[in-house]
Amino acid sequence: MPSHGAHKAAIETDRLTGQPTSPAHVDCAVELFGDTEVAAWIWPEEREGVDSGPRSPDQVRQILDAQIEHWTRESFGWWWWRERESGRLVGEAGLQRTTVDGSPAVEVGWTILPEHWGKGLASEAAAAALRYGFVRAGLKEIVALTLPANERSLAVMRKLGMEPRGEVTHAGLPHVLFAQTREGWQA
Ligand SMILES: CC(C)(COP(=O)(O)OP(=O)(O)OC[C@H]1O[C@@H](n2cnc3c(N)ncnc32)[C@H](O)[C@@H]1OP(=O)(O)O)[C@@H](O)C(=O)NCCC(=O)NCCS
Repeated sequence: MPSHGAHKAAIETDRLTGQPTSPAHVDCAVELFGDTEVAAWIWPEEREGVDSGPRSPDQVRQILDAQIEHWTRESFGWWWWRERESGRLVGEAGLQRTTVDGSPAVEVGWTILPEHWGKGLASEAAAAALRYGFVRAGLKEIVALTLPANERSLAVMRKLGMEPRGEVTHAGLPHVLFAQTREGWQA
């Protein structure tokens, strides 16, 4: 029973404000997904139907349209995060439906502008997204997936208290799978 309530879904944390994806986030998204270092982790190599490397502004608009559309049919989605002190957008973190080994799942994900890496912002935003997923959206389990070499992303998963569940092929590439259940998160 999706609430279709993107307008109700803003989140505040100690240092960040998260807003559900909207067209207002396009400039930050163009910078983020057009960045070579960021793209090397998200689109590391060409796969069937998927280019590698930084995204063009048109491709970024399609990503944002898909995020906006996700919020229209689900009670959760991606948030874009603004540092409260500076007022600057720093990146995205949120929840999306995905498929793991052929089964439906909900995934938490994160991407932060490189100039803001290492300040704990992905972990802070993702912790709020997990809380939202379990408390507000009533999810029972949330997974996270990353390339085995993505140490920063693995560190975020561990800091969130997520547990390793082995390796899976995801989007055509070997990924490490982590998961957190609502019970585990509450404990
Ligand atoms: C992954 C990403 C979102 C992390 O953002 P962030 O705001 O820097 O994350 P945090 O600061 O919350 O945590 C990063 C952790 O990585 C650790 N880290 C930083 N550099 C590292 C390195 N070279 N090797 C191992 N760990 C490293 C930090 O120490 C920190 O862990 P700690 O707090 O336990 O010390 C960011 O690097 C990013 O956008 N990467 C490109 C896109 C991407 O990979 N997205 C995820 C796809 S699964």
